[in-house]
Amino acid sequence: MKVLFLIFVIAAPSLCATECSAFDDVVSFDVVSYGATGSGQADDTQAFVKAWKDVCGATQKSAKFVIPQNKIFMLQPLSLKGPCNPATIEVQLEGTVIAPKSIGDWKFLNEERKWIEFSDISGIVIEGGGVIDGQGAAWWNSDDVSMKPTALHLHNCKDGILRSIHHMNSPRNHISVDMCSGLEISHVNITAPMESPNTDGIDISGSSNVFIHSSTIQTGDDCIAINSGSSFVNISDIFCGPGHGISVGSLGRNGDDARVENVHVRNCTFLGSSNGVRLKTWRGGQGYARKIIFEDITVVGVKRPVIIDQNYFGLLDEKKSAVKISEVSYRNVKGTTSGERAVELSCDPNVGCNDIVLDHISITKEDGGESKASCTGAQGTCFLCNPIVSCLSNLHLV
Ligand SMILES: *[C@@H]1O[C@H](CO)[C@@H](O)[C@H](O)[C@H]1NC(C)=O
Ligand SMILES: *[C@@H]1O[C@H](CO)[C@@H](O)[C@H](O)[C@H]1NC(C)=O
Ligand SMILES: *[C@@H]1O[C@H](CO)[C@@H](O)[C@H](O)[C@H]1NC(C)=O
Repeated sequence: MKVLFLIFVIAAPSLCATECSAFDDVVSFDVVSYGATGSGQADDTQAFVKAWKDVCGATQKSAKFVIPQNKIFMLQPLSLKGPCNPATIEVQLEGTVIAPKSIGDWKFLNEERKWIEFSDISGIVIEGGGVIDGQGAAWWNSDDVSMKPTALHLHNCKDGILRSIHHMNSPRNHISVDMCSGLEISHVNITAPMESPNTDGIDISGSSNVFIHSSTIQTGDDCIAINSGSSFVNISDIFCGPGHGISVGSLGRNGDDARVENVHVRNCTFLGSSNGVRLKTWRGGQGYARKIIFEDITVVGVKRPVIIDQNYFGLLDEKKSAVKISEVSYRNVKGTTSGERAVELSCDPNVGCNDIVLDHISITKEDGGESKASCTGAQGTCFLCNPIVSCLSNLHLV
């Protein structure tokens, strides 16, 4: 028996130096066996980098990158890149990863101020119930936004999943998704204090077929922002607030040609957020935002529940262009506002917003009083709207 056992050990492929699953096509690498201390003090970055190299190069169909529970891993900025061999890579985040606490301790890889980046990976699954803590408090007082690092990046990914994690206190944006096609984000809890500036929950740009659902986002900036180059983005069952709501944009900054279409936001609740559902485009921009639906939205004490702002940061100037806004529907938006105006449509007089549909809108002031709407440059219809939106055709059926 002993002899047989020895032969088995020697015959095991070197990739199993750490821990092997019983199935040949799944292999698992634990960062602790690469020297990560999990002490919360020592720098565990190199252990993660080494473990990633083996995960990514594994010859099995599926590889696991294990960050075990009951440990805290302090990580400097790191970039985990593909393309990788396995068809599926599961980042099993069960423990906690934290960023350096003081500003001076950060060691950036290059001029880009990012903390953790996964790039060029197909079939990545990040899950496990663990925590990502950006320890951003020191950065929140600093005025220079461009110096602040963003936390988790998914860049150039295909068919990915991010679920069941708690992400907190990023110095700046929490999750940035760009150039991804096919990504499902669910059961994430993103939290940062209401007073922490620029701490967006999830930012999406240049991506398609993104589905975000069943999550709670409470931060100091946008809960979710959908930026240029994004299409087929579905968002549902999100609890947002405090924060700045769910935004399309801002689009068209510095004259950019922005394109966003086929966005569907459904069954979301906003509690005490400064905005609810917002479209914002810069003066001077180009391109379009179209085919956007917001439905079954509940607002509770939201300052500005429904906003289209086509003149974001800019004065009206006839010579300048704007991002075209069309085919935007709001269906069944109800609740209360802490402000005066429940609906604000502020569209450019030349470019304008077309085919805007408001259907079953019922928003009162928190004290039960009637709210108001403001409206310029928008064309479309309002079916059963409270408040009445004057520049649209208002249809009231009794
Ligand atoms: C999200 O995290 C906050 C802060 O730790 C916590 O109070 C809340 O219960 C969590 N929510 C969910 C849905 O996990
Ligand atoms: C988005 O929703 C539409 C219908 O509501 C569905 O056809 C489409 O597959 C969904 N896309 C994603 C990425 O979830
Ligand atoms: C709406 O979202 C909540 C979670 O925020 C969920 O519990 C509920 O089932 C959803 N309702 C529908 C009709 O999808």
